[in-house]
Order: sequence, then C-alpha cells, then structure tokens
Amino acid sequence: MKLLISNIKTLVQVDEAPRKWVAGTDMANLNCIDDAYLLIEGEKITDFGKMEDMPDFDEKEGFDFVEEYDATGRMVFPSFCDSHTHLVYAGSREIEYTDKIKGLSYEEIAKRGGGILNSAKRMHEATEEELYESAMERIQEIIGLGTGAVEIKSGYGLTVADELKMLRVIKRLKKNTPLTIKSTFLGAHAVPAEYIGRQGEYVDMVINEMIPMVAAEDLADYIDVFCDKGFFTVEETDRILLAGMKYGMRAKIHANELDYSGGVQVGVKYNALSVDHLEFVGDAEIEALKGSETMPTVLPGAAFFLNMVCSPVRKMMDAGLPVALASDFNPGSSPSGNMKFIMSLACINYKMLPQEAINATTLNSAYAMGVEEELGSIAKGKIANVYITKEIPSVEYMPYAYGSNLIDVVILRGKVL
Ligand code: NIG
Ligand code: FE
Repeated sequence: MKLLISNIKTLVQVDEAPRKWVAGTDMANLNCIDDAYLLIEGEKITDFGKMEDMPDFDEKEGFDFVEEYDATGRMVFPSFCDSHTHLVYAGSREIEYTDKIKGLSYEEIAKRGGGILNSAKRMHEATEEELYESAMERIQEIIGLGTGAVEIKSGYGLTVADELKMLRVIKRLKKNTPLTIKSTFLGAHAVPAEYIGRQGEYVDMVINEMIPMVAAEDLADYIDVFCDKGFFTVEETDRILLAGMKYGMRAKIHANELDYSGGVQVGVKYNALSVDHLEFVGDAEIEALKGSETMPTVLPGAAFFLNMVCSPVRKMMDAGLPVALASDFNPGSSPSGNMKFIMSLACINYKMLPQEAINATTLNSAYAMGVEEELGSIAKGKIANVYITKEIPSVEYMPYAYGSNLIDVVILRGKVL
C-alpha cells in the first residue's frame, strides 16, 4: 500500500541523516519543511521533500496510489514516543486525589496504605482479561492523542505471580496493537506490606525469583527500580540493576523524584537507557550525565499532579545535555497519557520552547525507549507513525492551544486509522 500526503503546510521533525538524539542548545532547532509531501510505502516512510521537488509519481511505473491525502493547511508530525508509563493498572485512585487536595503528601498517602500499594491490592484482585481490556482502552485513547510508541512498566504486582500477570498483559498488548510497545520490569516499585521491615528480603526475591522468571518468558525489554527516599536505596538499586543486566535487561530507572537519591549516578554507572523524574538534580547529577549514553527524562504530568518542584530542565540543556519528556501515565501520580498536554506543561512550567518540547517528545523520547532508529522523526526508512493536524497557524500552536484536540488523522505503520 502506498500513501502520498501532499500540500503539507509544514512537515515537522525531519531527519535527512540519522540522529540518535538532539541535545543542549540544538534542542531549540526543529528541522521542518514547509509546503511538503510525504510518501509512505507499506509500513515505512520512503520519501519526502518540498512540493516543488515532488516527483511525478503518476508517471512512475507501478505507482498506483491506493490513497492520496491533500493536507492543505495542515501539518504532519512524527507520532509522540511516550517512554515512561504504567498504563496497565486496575482501577483509578481519585480518593487519593481528594486526599492530596486536602494537603496530604505523596509519602503520607503511601504510608497510609494508599499509593502504589493500593494499586497492588487491586492488581492482585483483577484478572488478566480485565487488565488487558482496560489497558487496551487506554492504548486506544493515546493513539487518538497522537502517541505512536509507548513504554509500559510492571510494578503494581509486587508478587511473582502478579508481576508476571502484568507483564503477560503487556506482551499481549504488544501483539495486538499497531503501537510500538516496550516493556519494563519494575518489581522494585514499592515494598509490599508484608515485607515492611524486611526490605532486603523483598529485594532478594526480586533478584532471585522474579528476574529469572521474567527473563525465562522473555517478558521485559528493560529493568526499572524506584531509587528514591523511602523506596529503594542506591545499594539495592545497584544489586537489582546488575541482576537484570545479566539477563539482558537494560536499566531505565525512577530517580531523584523525592530527593537527591543517588539514583542518577547509579543509573549512569550501569549505562541506563534513561533516568526518569529528576526533580532533584544538581551539579553532581549533571556531571554524571555528561558524556553518558543515558537520557535524562522529565515527567511534567507527575510534577503537575503532585504539585512538586520542577526539574531544572534549562540547567541540564545549558550543560549540553539532551532532555526527553514522557507522560508517566499511571493511576496515582499522572492519570493522563496526553503527550500534547505534557508539551504544554513543559513549556509553561519548565520554560521549554515549543521546539524543545517537540524534540523532547519525539526523537529524544524515542531514544529513551530504545526505538530511535525506527521512530521519533520523519526519516527515510523509519516506521510511518505520524499524525496530520487540523488546520493550525504554526508549530507553536500545538502546545499553546493546550486544551484543544488538534490531531485530525492518525497513521500508524503506514495505515490510516
Ligand atoms: O512514576 N514514582 C514512582 N512511581 C510512579 C507512581 C505510581 C503510583 O503512584 O501509582 C511514578 O510517578
Ligand atoms: Fe513512573
């Protein structure tokens, strides 16, 4: 199947040559082509350029277009890559939302058996089928919101059986959606109630029982640990990451959300693909990240929802680092997978320019989930996951019009949905 999109007002995030990410001051530059065309053949992008240079495809032998789309007045963006979510979960947690409004902190809610342990209880009670159905609804929702790739974590199971149950759901989702999905084992998300006071034993269980079983069924691409104050220590994180890496799972960790936890440094030490949250980042963390292969990833939805301090994104970019943005879609700290809104939050709360926010939610977040070679930009040979906007005046209008759905047509793997 071939699809030609013509008369595109602006074709956004174009890569002539492959780039793994965009960093520092370059993040303010967005490669775009005005008055453009885009050719998709099968699942892949095969050609693009200015309308005036468009070959006469009708003349080309064997070029019978199944579909031609005139995008006059509209823009084409590469789909968002959402590199950090927990979108397999059972039940919402709006009671805690009210508790938060009344002034309880995230840690206080967690101490009262709320938070992650509340989701773990519901996870235990839910069947695999129920989990699959509800997660698939969320997947459909984010597809409509322009997401073309998503990473999903376990971590609401916290027992061998329930962690495997979550990961099997993710595996089924991978098979049954055009979205590109990566899965992450997050057994060390919280210490389950029955292990409180025996945290070391839980860590041993994660290492000796969970990781080998997850690997045996090939259920996870990556391994994650919530390395933070009140959750898992640097030493525990170190042991868990090392154990996961022995089974081929690269690290992607929750770090420095609640304190200067040492999480960034231990992540970099093990060549983590990304370190995520990063509300507490100072010079030492920035130094550790410099020259590394680890993508600093910021989750503005969680900081907004929990009313936390904002990660020093500008300081990181000024130091020459790349920054990625993700939704953290989960029932406790960020019940939304709307990446366009994440861009708006990044612009207003973190003072990111719209161009920086677009780079951070496409190419850089593709890197943060290990898919930058096939997704994250408009490039020949990449998978054709793109969306066509409604008529909009400028690229900046996307984060600016923060409550409007501006995504008109979604194309995943070359197919118009
Ligand atoms: O990424 N910070 C740790 N974990 C999740 C929150 C999960 C929850 O509260 O259910 C997060 O924000
Ligand atoms: Fe998270």
